Amino acid sequence: MRVLVTWGSKHGGTEGIARILGDVLEQRGFDVEVSSVNEVTRLDTFDAVIIGGALYANRWPSNVPRFIGRHLARLRQVPVWFFSSGPLDDSAERQDIPAPRQVGVLAERVGARGHITFGGRLERDVKGFPASAMAKEHSGDWRNPERIRAWADRLATELPHATPGTPIEHRAASLPRLLAHGVLGWALGAVILAGLSPLIGITAARIIHTLAVPFIFSAVGWHYFRDRGARAPPQTAVVWTAIVALLDLVIVAGLVQRDFAMFSSILGVWLPLVLVFLTTWAVGGMMEMMPETVRAAKQVNA
Ligand SMILES: Cc1cc2nc3c(=O)[nH]c(=O)nc-3n(C[C@H](O)[C@H](O)[C@H](O)COP(=O)(O)O)c2cc1C
Repeated sequence: MRVLVTWGSKHGGTEGIARILGDVLEQRGFDVEVSSVNEVTRLDTFDAVIIGGALYANRWPSNVPRFIGRHLARLRQVPVWFFSSGPLDDSAERQDIPAPRQVGVLAERVGARGHITFGGRLERDVKGFPASAMAKEHSGDWRNPERIRAWADRLATELPHATPGTPIEHRAASLPRLLAHGVLGWALGAVILAGLSPLIGITAARIIHTLAVPFIFSAVGWHYFRDRGARAPPQTAVVWTAIVALLDLVIVAGLVQRDFAMFSSILGVWLPLVLVFLTTWAVGGMMEMMPETVRAAKQVNA
């Protein structure tokens, strides 16, 4: 039975966990490949896959979700397990730490059979901000080889008769839902601008509109991101900013004003666009950081 152990990481600590898992599985008689997600091009020769990710602000590095997206069809045909490497203390030893929201959603998309959180590692002399700043207070190695080996032993026992899990399709990720929320945000802004302009003049209306944009997109973002499985905050921020720019261009400038002079106004166009982008990303990011309490996370950790 061929097993792939793969991982995504920023500073190499997660690779150490993957290698221990690979060694144990090999000793237990499996044909194991241990490679980073950046090196794996095809999955059709593997009968089971173990995917790991380092946690940064409760997310796995973006190459892991991309890897999962690329190989989703195959990952749904084989048993898959997830592991995270994270806490820079002994909390992973004391309790089972559930997958954060992003990881839990990925586990559901794939139909992963389980998830475990291992302690992490941060080297004192790590390069780059913010890791180097964090290392001043939190450097150390909390990867416990015994616990990692014990989990690998459990997998080795389960693997020969394990079947693929049941994947969940998240309706919250649908394209129409993403686009509808972007259009709603734009429409609320347009109503404020169109409603106030005749009353207080275009300049004052633009100022109020610009001030209102963060509130509008906080509310729209909250409504969008609260549903499990919504798209990633950076991707959503790009799409909504593009929608607002496009609707400003086509409807406001093209159809209503029949003049594109508004695009020379920083206050009228460019600042609101920047605020749409930043607000959406910030709200989505904050909501992902919120503690995961939903039933599906429990299912993943069962
Ligand atoms: C900027 C930064 C943010 C982090 N955020 C989290 C986090 O949200 N949750 C967590 O458990 N660990 C967090 N960690 C700890 C890392 O997950 C840990 O150091 C991990 O072992 C790094 O793996 P890597 O060396 O493979 O990149 C963070 C570390 C850094 C430097």
